[in-house]
Parts: sequence; C-alpha cells; structure tokens
Amino acid sequence: MVTAQDVMTPSDYMARALFLAERGRGRTSPNPLVGAVIVSPEGVVVGSGFHARAGEAHAEVRALDEAGAAARGGTLYCTLEPCCHVGRTGPCVVRIVEAGVARVVAAVEDPNPLVCGRGFAFLRAHGVEVEVGLQAAAAMRINLPFFTRHRSQRPLVTLKAALSADGCVAAAPGQRTRLTSAAANRHAHWVRAEVDAIAVGAGTILADDPLLTARGAYRAQPLVRVIFDRRLRTPPTARVLSTVDAGPVIIVTSADQLAGRESGRQALERRGARVLVTRTGMIREALGRLAADWQLGSLLLEGGAAIHAAAWEEGVVDIVRLYVTPHVIGAGGVAFLPAGSFWSGALRQRRVEPLGPDVMIEGYVHRID
Ligand SMILES: NC(=O)c1ccc[n+]([C@@H]2O[C@H](COP(=O)([O-])OP(=O)(O)OC[C@H]3O[C@@H](n4cnc5c(N)ncnc54)[C@H](OP(=O)(O)O)[C@@H]3O)[C@@H](O)[C@H]2O)c1
Repeated sequence: MVTAQDVMTPSDYMARALFLAERGRGRTSPNPLVGAVIVSPEGVVVGSGFHARAGEAHAEVRALDEAGAAARGGTLYCTLEPCCHVGRTGPCVVRIVEAGVARVVAAVEDPNPLVCGRGFAFLRAHGVEVEVGLQAAAAMRINLPFFTRHRSQRPLVTLKAALSADGCVAAAPGQRTRLTSAAANRHAHWVRAEVDAIAVGAGTILADDPLLTARGAYRAQPLVRVIFDRRLRTPPTARVLSTVDAGPVIIVTSADQLAGRESGRQALERRGARVLVTRTGMIREALGRLAADWQLGSLLLEGGAAIHAAAWEEGVVDIVRLYVTPHVIGAGGVAFLPAGSFWSGALRQRRVEPLGPDVMIEGYVHRID
C-alpha cells in the first residue's frame, strides 16, 4: 500500500509550512512570519496554520485547533521554535504538550531572548522529541527583519535609490529630480507597503517635500516615517506631517544639536511629530533606539545622498535596491555614494528586474546565512 509518507518528505512538510508563513507578510510585525503543519504517524496532514496578524493566534495553535485529537502522536513541522512565554497569546509549547504531539521539527531557533532555546527545552523536558535545522536558511530569510532586530539590535536596513544611467541621484545638490518611470514608482510603493518604516534625511524633506506614504498598495499596519534631522530643519509645514494618521513621523535629532532649538521642537510636536533625541547623532544609535522603543524590524532608507553615504560608512546597510533609469544627468549631478565605495557587482544573491524602461538591481551587502 502506498501511503502519503511514501510521497511526502519532511522537507515537503517544511516547505508547506514556509509557504503558509508567507501568507502573513505585511501583517505580523513586530512578530515573525510563522507557518506550521501537523502530520499524523501515517503521513497525513491533519492540521496547518500560519500567524496571520500580530496579537492573533500563533501558527502552531491554529494548526493544533484544526487537527484536534488527530494531533496525538503526530509530528509538528514549524518554521520557528514554538514560543514558551506569555505574550499577547499563551505559550505554544504548553498546547503542543497537551495535544500529545510526539515530535517537533523546527526550522530554526527563535532569536528572541525570551525564547531562544527555552521552547525546545520545555518540549524535551515533557517527552517531546525535537529536531532543529530543517530548511533553516529559508526560514531565516523569510524573517530577516525579525532576526536582525533580535541579533543586531537594529532594524534590517534597505538602502533604496533611483539612479540616472551615469550614476547620479539628483541633477544638482538639493534639486528635486524625477528619474523613475511609473512602473518603478509602483514597485517602490509596493515595497513601502511591506516595511515597518521609511526614512529620509532632512535634505530630502527640504528638496522634495515628500508625503512618504504607500500609495496604490494595500498596507495593513501603520507606516512609521523617520527623518534624520539633527538641526531640526524640517519645517512644521512639511507635507509628511499632514500624514500622521497613516503612522508616526519620528524626527531624529541629537542632544548637542537640540540645545537652543526647543521652540522648533515644540512646533514640530504640535504638528504631531515625535522627536527622538540621540546622544551621538550617529545613525546606528538611532536605529538601535528605533528597534528597542518602536520595535522596528525593517527600515527603507530612501535618501538622499548624504544620509545614504553616512549609513553606508557606518556599515548599517543590509540590502541595496537601485532603480537604474535611462536618463543621463551629466556634469554637476550628485553622485550616488562616494566614488569607489560601492559596486553593484559585489552584492550577494543579486537580482535584476526590468520595470518599464528602468532596471531594478537588488542584493545583500553581507552574507545572510
Ligand atoms: N534619487 C534618489 O533616489 C533620491 C532619493 C531621495 C532624495 N534624492 C535627492 O537627494 C537630494 C537630497 O540629498 P541631500 O544629500 O541634500 O540630503 P539628505 O541625505 O536627504 O539629508 C541630509 C541631512 O541628513 C541629516 N543627517 C542626520 N543624521 C545624519 C548623519 N548621521 N549623517 C549625515 N547626515 C545626517 C543632515 O542634517 P543634520 O546635520 O542637520 O542632521 C544632512 O544635512 C535632493 O536633491 C533629493 O531630490 C534623491
């Protein structure tokens, strides 16, 4: 007799759990994407689930609810270590033990210090067999913001720029310069809909007065906007401050630059801005505060030239995404990153996609697994 076990492998069950996890994309932050599949001793999938939204049931609990009594003696495949702490929902490990699951196969340990192996230890202590590591790289890749926040204490930073064919981001310093096509703009707005935050420097606010919202794309959660602006040059009339209904606008300054600018701060706060005061004025410190206080897992750094260069020099860029356009700017143009400091050929797992007349190039700056 051919059973389901003869045709489905453990990798297939984990692939199914990873596929399910993706269904929560854009809705679970600050929680990770998680998928779970419960398989009976005969190899039949008796329950499956995913974490659909922050504050709602975890993937394992949804799979256990679906499986009911059929979970007893079965194997739970999950993309992340089951939790053992009481957050907005109860600990999954208790439910797993109570359901009589015999074995848990998890892709990767949860980097959250509240869990971090304790979930596995609890399961083993209650007689559940535990195996860790199946498709670990894929499981980490779907949750890079979550892993970066817990392991590096800052959000995953994507540097995004629109470039002319001759490598410039603007026609002249401080000049608003439209470069990208409608197709590339649409793509950029889809990306905005998935990240926790978008960020720009004060120069971009002054030159472009952008709204910094995700338009033409459904976004389930509030979008945080961050403005790096130590001297508080953002005018209270800036258009982004008319969009606080879409999510908080955080203006990052530093203690030394803030001195003597209290009235400017108050004017911005009256418009709904939140002011974050760093000690050093460095981007890394601000990112640490944004991860700790605002639980930001991902941040899209949209420009301009000075803040891109500063983030690159501080080594806090994880992903680069360039929209390269056919326009030529020529002499006087503002170059993208200091000459010789960046080469797109050095990006890892590079991906290239045509978007109308433009070409998107994206890749990782460092090894990610
Ligand atoms: N092509 C593109 O993708 C793109 C995207 C965005 C903008 N742009 C263009 O770029 C131009 C604006 O760029 P920009 O270089 O003038 O300004 P910017 O990079 O947007 O902002 C620069 C400002 O950021 C502030 N800042 C805060 N923390 C900093 C830090 N740690 N290190 C360095 N700066 C920090 C500085 O002001 P404080 O010293 O007061 O903090 C600095 O003046 C405009 O022409 C705009 O149209 C192009």
